Amino acid sequence: MKFLVISQRAKANPNYNLKDLTGHGRFDIVPRCILAAGRRLLDNEGDEIIVYMKDGGWIHWLSDLDLIDEDEISVAHHIKENWNDLFIEGDLSELLERIEFNGIVLLSEDGERYNDNTDMNDKLIILGAQRDLTDEDIQAIEKYQVSKLSLGESSMLASHTIIFLRQLLLAR
Ligand SMILES: C[S@@+](CC[C@H](N)C(=O)[O-])C[C@H]1O[C@@H](n2cnc3c(N)ncnc32)[C@H](O)[C@@H]1O
Repeated sequence: MKFLVISQRAKANPNYNLKDLTGHGRFDIVPRCILAAGRRLLDNEGDEIIVYMKDGGWIHWLSDLDLIDEDEISVAHHIKENWNDLFIEGDLSELLERIEFNGIVLLSEDGERYNDNTDMNDKLIILGAQRDLTDEDIQAIEKYQVSKLSLGESSMLASHTIIFLRQLLLAR
């Protein structure tokens, strides 16, 4: 499984202060989502995650990067130190062309309700960071096969949504 988080506000540069990640366009959400997806959860070793920043590019975090002892600040530090290796410049359409997936699952409070038969095989799971996707984002993803999936009517934090979905899949 591969997650794609779309941040409307995070600044696409490493010039952030580790003591003020929120001041960099809520950059705090970036390492939080990376931990939520990439850290081992019981029998699930961790998933791949991409965080797209509408300011100009994306960070691609592969699932084999070791997150055992990491926390949000150490992940933010790792991104800052390895920015040139992790950051890829481009827009959302370019991102989607460069990664492999077999259909998109867009997480949304008003989608079709999740059940144990929901097909998640090789899907790219897309969610918003602090806000939902914009019409422009939707236009870019609609070139692919998209199904809208809800995990419940109330809104969760993006990181909680990721962990909750991983738990649901583990319980299958
Ligand atoms: C902080 S929420 C956004 C909250 C709210 N929809 C908004 O735009 O202000 C971030 C993302 O988590 C996902 N999400 C949150 N709650 C969800 C739920 N109950 N089911 C499916 N996805 C959810 C959605 O992709 C959402 O864009």
